[in-house]
Amino acid sequence: VVPFSENERMPISLPFTSQRTDSSFTHVPVALGPRSYDIHIGAGVAIHAMESLTALGQGLRVAVITDTHVAPFYAESVVQALKGAGFVVSLIVVEAGEISKDWATLAKICDEILSAKIERGDLLLALGGGVIGDLVGFAASIVRRGVRFVQMPTTLLAQVDSSVGGKTGINSSHGKNLIGSFYQPSLVLVDTTFLNTLPEREFKAGYAEVIKYGLINNIDFFDWCETHWREIFSGEGGAREHAIATSCRAKAAVVAKDEHEKGDRALLNLGHTFGHALERMTGYDAARLVHGEGVSIGMAMAFRFSAERELCVWDDAIRVSDHLCQVGLPTTLQDIPGEHCSVDALLDAMLQDKKVVRGELTFILANGIGQSFIAKDIPISDVRAFLEEELQRG
Ligand SMILES: NC(=O)c1ccc[n+]([C@@H]2O[C@H](COP(=O)([O-])OP(=O)(O)OC[C@H]3O[C@@H](n4cnc5c(N)ncnc54)[C@H](O)[C@@H]3O)[C@@H](O)[C@H]2O)c1
Ligand SMILES: [Zn+2]
Repeated sequence: VVPFSENERMPISLPFTSQRTDSSFTHVPVALGPRSYDIHIGAGVAIHAMESLTALGQGLRVAVITDTHVAPFYAESVVQALKGAGFVVSLIVVEAGEISKDWATLAKICDEILSAKIERGDLLLALGGGVIGDLVGFAASIVRRGVRFVQMPTTLLAQVDSSVGGKTGINSSHGKNLIGSFYQPSLVLVDTTFLNTLPEREFKAGYAEVIKYGLINNIDFFDWCETHWREIFSGEGGAREHAIATSCRAKAAVVAKDEHEKGDRALLNLGHTFGHALERMTGYDAARLVHGEGVSIGMAMAFRFSAERELCVWDDAIRVSDHLCQVGLPTTLQDIPGEHCSVDALLDAMLQDKKVVRGELTFILANGIGQSFIAKDIPISDVRAFLEEELQRG
């Protein structure tokens, strides 16, 4: 039986971390004191890790939770690897899509976890994109007041962003991610082979979050992405692993400094104040806009807004949107298919975002590429004028 105490998340150390034979995997630690854990990145790391968990496995229960798109590709191999390592495994499959980040699905998952007799020392395994990761993380934090969970992200977005850092939750009719908790995983396994089945549009959307790390504080990484994005997309050579590892290191560093978003963690919201408003405006309709696409438009807008306010030069704003455009990501409101929104509706959607404090808007703006900062108290009249211009763009 694995010892488990109430206040510790019990990191799971993999036996192969220091072995030469597995040096093809990249290891990124997330330093959070008693809640520290490891991210392992590489092609084939998921099954390899499951098989190496034999020491942990004998008799321990695992509930693998995934969605209807991911299950046909990967559920069987993950379940078999876990069984092979001595775990007692159950599989829970929920409907794919943002729609599942709701109370009903959370209740169903919690119920099935309890039916599977998962105890506090057992494990939940989130096999899927950000939706599954957020849902399972939240379930892990409330079932029996906290059970351990492993993130096995299968989208690029989840591999570089949502699986790391411990933000979990579901959506409310009042907005996205408004119900949730901070709850860190015990292990994150980023297997890049999962990306081979990811639809191209989802890959691009995840790439927007990769670029975000360059724009926040790492111009060298942005430069590198401009040169190597084709290899990242094709998966040739080691570019994809490098991009993911650099992103995970960046996220881990921010989270280690500010786990509960009291300060600098907000930098990770670059492009998200605009982006979330756009998602809301389009009714979270994936046919029109997925999260990463909203973030792409949002980042391009944040740089144009910064240039407008003479915080950065226009050349930087143009360079950012040129690169996003080049990979096929949207950068303007006009790029969203369907009916255009009004300034009032957009502003209203922004004011309902949870990052609004007493009616004033907090933005992440930039003095240049790699020089983002938190700008508080931006007058709403300035935002309105900027949105009017954005809607005029042809
Ligand atoms: N917790 C955080 O810090 C954080 C950060 C960013 C985003 N998020 C959340 O993440 C969610 C978005 O995540 P996402 O973009 O991964 O969406 P998602 O989980 O809905 O996945 C996108 C689509 O790809 C499918 N899919 C996933 N992996 C696949 C694979 N390997 N092959 C084929 N299809 C696959 C899914 O079934 C889904 O249809 C949002 O709810 C957002 O709020 C959370
Ligand atoms: Zn995001």
